[in-house]
Amino acid sequence: MFILTAGFINTPAQESSFPLIPKPEKTEWLEGKFSFSRNTGIACSDKVLQEYFISQVNALTGVKLNSGAASPAVIVLNLTKEKMDAEEYKLSITEKRAEITASSKEGLFRGMQTFFQLIPPAAKAGKNNSSVEMHCVNLSDKPRFSHRGLNLDCGRHFMSKDFIKRYIDILAYYKFNTFHWHLTEDQGWRIEIKKYPNLTKVGAWRKESDGSIYGGFYTQDDIKEIVAYAQSRYINIIPEIEMPGHSLASLASYPENSCTGGPFEPTNLFGVFNDIYCAGNEGTYKFLQDVLDEVIALFPGKYVHIGGDEAPKIRWKECPKCQAKIKAEGLKDEHELQSYFIKRMASYLTSKGKTVIGWDEVLQGGLAPGIIVQSWQSFEGAVDAAKQGHYVVCSPASHTYLNGSPENLDLRIAYSFEPVPPELNKEEAKYIMGGEVNLWTERAPQETVDSKLFPRILALAEVFWSDPKGRSYDEFYSRLQSYYPDMTALGIEYGQGSKVLNVNTSYDGKEKSFIIKADVTQSNVEVRYAIDKPLDNNSALYKEPFKINGTNTVQIGTFRNGRSLGDAVGLSFVFHKALNSKITLSTQYNERYRASGPEALIDGVRGSADFRDGCWQGYEGVDLDCVIDLGEEKEISTVAPRFFLDANSWIFLPSHVEISLSKDNVNYSDTKTVVNDTDQKTSDIIQKDFKASFGKAAARYIKVKAIGLKQCPEWHPYAGGKAWLMADEIVVE
Ligand code: ACM
Ligand code: ZN
Repeated sequence: MFILTAGFINTPAQESSFPLIPKPEKTEWLEGKFSFSRNTGIACSDKVLQEYFISQVNALTGVKLNSGAASPAVIVLNLTKEKMDAEEYKLSITEKRAEITASSKEGLFRGMQTFFQLIPPAAKAGKNNSSVEMHCVNLSDKPRFSHRGLNLDCGRHFMSKDFIKRYIDILAYYKFNTFHWHLTEDQGWRIEIKKYPNLTKVGAWRKESDGSIYGGFYTQDDIKEIVAYAQSRYINIIPEIEMPGHSLASLASYPENSCTGGPFEPTNLFGVFNDIYCAGNEGTYKFLQDVLDEVIALFPGKYVHIGGDEAPKIRWKECPKCQAKIKAEGLKDEHELQSYFIKRMASYLTSKGKTVIGWDEVLQGGLAPGIIVQSWQSFEGAVDAAKQGHYVVCSPASHTYLNGSPENLDLRIAYSFEPVPPELNKEEAKYIMGGEVNLWTERAPQETVDSKLFPRILALAEVFWSDPKGRSYDEFYSRLQSYYPDMTALGIEYGQGSKVLNVNTSYDGKEKSFIIKADVTQSNVEVRYAIDKPLDNNSALYKEPFKINGTNTVQIGTFRNGRSLGDAVGLSFVFHKALNSKITLSTQYNERYRASGPEALIDGVRGSADFRDGCWQGYEGVDLDCVIDLGEEKEISTVAPRFFLDANSWIFLPSHVEISLSKDNVNYSDTKTVVNDTDQKTSDIIQKDFKASFGKAAARYIKVKAIGLKQCPEWHPYAGGKAWLMADEIVVE
């Protein structure tokens, strides 16, 4: 064996070729290779950890290490009496020996993950190696934060027991220590409660819009199995039972816990719903305490999460029982009633020896001491909570909500996340326990979870674990590139870290065709497209811009190694007289919903039933007011702007649209007013044309003014909040 004592190999470039995520505190790469095979002896004073190590190495490589006394131990898992932090470990791999040292089993476990990561991806991919070679290294490591979590929403989409176990292994591999299990939602109740069987008989199943039944739940035996599995991987599970909002599935099961008495169904829609637990009904508290009793019995961890977010007060305002409770308790209003509700449930859990976590809304109206705040809306909740002496899990949507598209939250933004807000002084900063990655699953069934989380979750794994001193995004990015084969070897179906595909369309007036152009920001991806049929990995390979001459539908997306990166764009086209015209907007769209930009309303591209498809242009709290200049006088028979309604997403149709024509852009005549005749108080998602007929008028300019609601109406959960107006196209015939 030869160790380079005079100069460890430790340049950043070389470090990148031995990827480790999260990055350890100190790494010294050594000359030489260590190899192990089925004759290699292993020793550990803890037989459970030893078994885990042997089985994990076997699963990764096919090599079964030898724990028999006859072999001298070459791999040593050493529980030392030396003073080290709880999760701290040292790892030394030389040509003769590999040793992981920690003072706790947890530390040893974290160190094992580093050993597993250091096994070359090629060996992991083979899985039937007779021996495996690893690079020699000397490293020491410990985490920055004690709380490093993933919150997975199993309410909107149910995830199988095996899938959850797989994720516990994945979390462990990247040195997370917390699995926050979001178990109840408006769309589904997922945990068996023996005292209230309807929760899973009724609440776990919803009717989808096509009439099919969707759902599932975890039996108490499933949960015990998962909890034991997580314990053996040093992952703490935090169950979340939402209250008082996001509780429709529960109320569908036991409507007597609501203000109105129901009836309700678990919903197949996504958004925020008015029907929440009745806070004036003593039965509600009894019910929730009973539920929590069973939850506590299943989850041995210290924490229980009780939600507390997004609870509209509209029912409480009208409910005699809630109003009586406000009076009886001397509360000011419904916000103080929420505070009463949360404090009461928290104090119940505290009396049972649990520590309560709630989303940052629980700060409103005052919060009892000892409750942990999980901030999601911004950093403000984290700052307020820490200044008030509450411990904080910092997980702002802006940096940790990976359900969002990488267009808005890319790898760089995720990596730039700093869980300790600069407003906090050194003492206050101690209240930041760490952070969580969040995956809300409105649009993320189980089979898409990998592609939503990876690779961005790796940026956050490093933010939560590693020392930020000297951190560089470029270094991380380059380390990540050499890490992709490892993800592949582990069977992780990663998606995109940033937006890869940009599609542009233009209209060629002479040829009367649309030209579709795709650009990619990475070199190792293929772009494929399909016209009037579904897109898959055998669809036509995009080489150059192509033309569409009819009202076709085009699917276009990127693929890597035959696998979709999940960014397919669907485009459908409409030919009309305003294509290639000029449009002047007097009101400004919101950049988040810019569609193709200033010309979007006359680009010929139709929006789909998904307002996030990049074809709908959104105006927040303002009207849509514009003038189209056709460039010359044309005969006009109809003008039809199309708008979107999805009240649950705060998007409303205009109350009316005024459309007028002009030859000179000064004198407008022939004004037609199209009044909305659709009831906006609906959960339906609707696209509606506001069509005005002009017979055979001649005009060059068309003025369209859509008068929006601007604020969510009185009956809406967010009454008074800014309302959206969304349009995809103004079709001129
Ligand atoms: C949340 O995103 N409502 C916690
Ligand atoms: Zn009530």
